[in-house]
Amino acid sequence: MINPLPRTAIVATLAIISALLTSSVSAQDTPTPYDCAKLSVSGNSYDISALKKSYLVKGEPKTEHPYKVRYDYSVNPCQAITVPDGESKLHCLPGTWVCRDKKVFFDESDPKTVSLQPIAGTAPAAENVPAREVAPLIALADKIENVAEVPWNLTLKGGLIDGQDQSAVITFICDTAATDDNVAPTLTGSQNGVTTFQWKSKSACAVQSKLPVQESMSGFSVFLTVFFSFAFIYLVLGAVYNHQVYGAKGFDLIPHKDFWRDFPSLVVDVVHHVWDSVTGRARGGGYVSV
Ligand SMILES: *[C@@H]1O[C@H](CO)[C@@H](O)[C@H](O)[C@H]1NC(C)=O
Repeated sequence: MINPLPRTAIVATLAIISALLTSSVSAQDTPTPYDCAKLSVSGNSYDISALKKSYLVKGEPKTEHPYKVRYDYSVNPCQAITVPDGESKLHCLPGTWVCRDKKVFFDESDPKTVSLQPIAGTAPAAENVPAREVAPLIALADKIENVAEVPWNLTLKGGLIDGQDQSAVITFICDTAATDDNVAPTLTGSQNGVTTFQWKSKSACAVQSKLPVQESMSGFSVFLTVFFSFAFIYLVLGAVYNHQVYGAKGFDLIPHKDFWRDFPSLVVDVVHHVWDSVTGRARGGGYVSV
């Protein structure tokens, strides 16, 4: 006669434990192709996750006969720009990281958007065009005078306008004073399908290496998880055993109850003993005179 309740409890326990263990393991092992929080190049690490949003970069008006035009850009250095529901006509196609918004000044009023085209992003294969990849790549750039840290370039590809491949190169420049994450990059050029930006930001500064601490912390949390998992299994299995074999109920379900009841005083005894040996009083028969 097997009570179904303990069995359910065991199954649930095992499920929880395996979920805990796999999540703590996979959190470390999952390969992350491009993670804004963990970029690294030549031994330097960068975390630009604070910039994981869409920035608007306005260009300068110029004449393209017969009108004046202006190219504005939306840029997200971490992932594709998110397009709110019902606003697809105001944005590039889904998958776009850097979007070019061509605006025309038809008269004296505000300019009108005439096309929204991808400078960088991913896109599925279409007619005569293979699938396109953003393929983020970072590289150290040339040192700038009076800037302590070496700037670095983030290259985002995959754009296509009128049959010409497009890409964006964002040069990140460490500036500890530039702490406002809402400040957009500046447009520095656009030529031969390469649009360049410059981004002075605190986020562009290399992350101080704290790896050893993080590693030991995560090792410790794995240890705690395993420890409590085994403690839980021990309690549940012990209780089931006591129930099945001895028909125990209530507090009697606790496995090795007598041992655990005495455990605190046992620990106190051991600590006393160790203390006495350290302070050289062990010979006195464990007696401490007041
Ligand atoms: C970084 O980007 C700047 C601006 O586009 C460019 O002039 C420079 O050559 C690039 N450097 C590297 C190493 O890619």
